Amino acid sequence: MATIDLSQTGGKRAAPRDWLRLSATLCFLSIAAGQLLFTAFILLFYYPPSLSGDFAAWNAKPLIKGFVPGDPGGNLFFAAHVLMAAVITFGGLVQLIPAIRGRWPAVHRWNGRLYLLSALVLALGGLWLTWARGTWLHWAGAVGISLDALLILLFGALAWRDARARRFAAHRRWTLRLFAVASAVWFMRVGYMAWGIAAGGAGIGTAMDGPFDIFLAFANSLLPLGVTELYLRTGARSKPAARSAVAVVLATSAIVILVGSAGAWLMMWRPYL
Ligand code: HEM
Repeated sequence: MATIDLSQTGGKRAAPRDWLRLSATLCFLSIAAGQLLFTAFILLFYYPPSLSGDFAAWNAKPLIKGFVPGDPGGNLFFAAHVLMAAVITFGGLVQLIPAIRGRWPAVHRWNGRLYLLSALVLALGGLWLTWARGTWLHWAGAVGISLDALLILLFGALAWRDARARRFAAHRRWTLRLFAVASAVWFMRVGYMAWGIAAGGAGIGTAMDGPFDIFLAFANSLLPLGVTELYLRTGARSKPAARSAVAVVLATSAIVILVGSAGAWLMMWRPYL
């Protein structure tokens, strides 16, 4: 798995290059802070009952379909899903730290394999929970998250193929795209909170059927993917104006992510710990 290359190489104009690099670093740090909070919530709320078999404790938090008495298969799928959720969320951050790849390449390789395995389990298991167990409120949410699962499977396969062929530049690109879409469920929570704080919850329906719900059902993967694509396409030969514009997009994203993550911790996660 490749690391995020925060230093786009080349280019003679130092100032624009530094702004892009700084804003990419800020964006990564805000994602890391938010995803560490999400990991902490999963470890504290879901791990103890899932590992001890006290599945009924999941329902202390509002869920569409968490623990269901008389549904051992569905409950086991849910348990596997939340256990893997912490692995992928923490593991993705570890993969993106350049120093780890440089100093401990074996850690990078094994964590990369674990990351791809957890992506596979979460995408296939998530599709099963959605369509076979029937865990959905509105068609847009179900279709949006299923599209995300398909993107995870596609980008994971392409990242794996290029790593095996030792095409590391292409591998790095696919892993960044994979990271963007594998973070979609976290982006969705952060997006709800940031929007709730900024717009007072306008467009959010009681059954996740409002205009904002429908927008976010698809934007949770496509928006981060779009920003990743912009970053990947802004190379050393891009015009300074383009580099500055992408720097502004990344810096704005960092602020939105910080606000949304703080909101998610305070309103969505901490009340249940
Ligand atoms: C790849 C990264 C993923 C992570 C980190 C993740 C994480 C989680 C977590 C933490 C929960 C528990 C609900 C909560 O407390 O908010 C959950 C539930 C669920 N996830 Fe995922 N998930 C991922 C991918 C997916 C995908 C791709 C799908 C669908 C295709 C999916 C479908 C579901 C469903 C249906 C539930 C049950 C929701 C409920 O009952 O309210 N997940 N997931």
